Amino acid sequence: ATATRLEAENATISQGVVESNHTGYSGTGFVNTDNVAGAYVEWRHTAAAAGSATLTFRYANGTTTTRPVAIAVNGATTNVDFPATGAWSTWQSRSITVPLVAGANTIRATATTAGGCPNLDYLEVLA
Ligand code: GCU
Ligand code: CA
Repeated sequence: ATATRLEAENATISQGVVESNHTGYSGTGFVNTDNVAGAYVEWRHTAAAAGSATLTFRYANGTTTTRPVAIAVNGATTNVDFPATGAWSTWQSRSITVPLVAGANTIRATATTAGGCPNLDYLEVLA
């Protein structure tokens, strides 16, 4: 199996910014989306072959409220809850298993409520 880490700060961001003011992130920072429904981070991943892959999202949610996010993989959506992590500097992971196509895949995480996304550190693709 091959794991590929895709940093959120290198992804396409709609309604959000790259920040580094909370410690513990991988790479050079994390994405803080605006606290609005519809804010998203979109990654591209080139898969060597079609098949099942595990997507792991590393995140922090320093509030006391779960932040739900729609994960669209080539347009097919899975809703994932991102529960509170206790602090903005405390990072946890949530994973889903999805089908990927050979070649280019688009993975978009979109906030579905007014809280926006949790802070997003990276997406790891294990295939
Ligand atoms: C705070 C925190 C941000 C976070 C935001 C939020 O402002 O510093 O990193 O993104 O809360 O509620 O989303
Ligand atoms: Ca935010």
